[in-house]
Amino acid sequence: MTYQSASPPRGDLAAPRSGLDANDVRVAYRRWAGIYDTAFGGVSAWGRRAAVDAVNALPGRRVLEAGVGTGLALPRYAASKRVVGIDLSAEMLKRARARVAEQRIATVETLREMDAEATDFADGEFDIAVAMFVASVVPHPRRLMEEMRRVVRPGGHILFVNHFAAERGLRWWAERTLAPASRALGWHPDFKFEALFAPGELAGAQLRPMPPFGLFTLVHLAR
Ligand SMILES: C[S@@+](CC[C@H](N)C(=O)[O-])C[C@H]1O[C@@H](n2cnc3c(N)ncnc32)[C@H](O)[C@@H]1O
Repeated sequence: MTYQSASPPRGDLAAPRSGLDANDVRVAYRRWAGIYDTAFGGVSAWGRRAAVDAVNALPGRRVLEAGVGTGLALPRYAASKRVVGIDLSAEMLKRARARVAEQRIATVETLREMDAEATDFADGEFDIAVAMFVASVVPHPRRLMEEMRRVVRPGGHILFVNHFAAERGLRWWAERTLAPASRALGWHPDFKFEALFAPGELAGAQLRPMPPFGLFTLVHLAR
């Protein structure tokens, strides 16, 4: 499915914010790090697998994984990729590093504590950037998008898998049901596409609903 906005927003909207700041994120994920895989690994597995499969199918070697967390995706990258993972949370990264060491994951170039909204990477340093279940957690989602666009070379690819709010139907019901867990994770059940993408930015993007209930969407943009 290709994204087509029925009525494209006009003018510059004030960029929406998550309501969290970087310290809130660190505090939340310090608490979540120990149980993150058990609490959230299952429900997010389809979307994560689809995102990494999509990355693996793309040309280009260097991949930035923004908000790498405990590194649940790391074992799935193709041997041809070289992955740089960044995250704000030292505790989440510690688990990602342990995973890389235990499973001897050779595709991981480095894991660094860094803000995905303001990295120290050069322009166009990556072929692909991917952020899984991160966009609705970062303090300023549009800054994340801008930074991913900056560090990916022209002709490269940007992927997100995230929850985006539904307005009605079964998914609306499922979101309401899962909302308490989402809030505890620092998510926003009402997170909208407009919070991440500037007007017109999604034109031509590929959108794929992900299980369960199409609760998550895989978004693929060509840079
Ligand atoms: C819901 S977890 C997702 C982790 C992983 N991507 C996954 O698929 O399981 C969100 C992660 O984003 C990280 N995060 C939030 N804001 C960030 C930012 N501005 N820069 C880097 N990482 C950030 C959090 O620390 C947390 O590890």
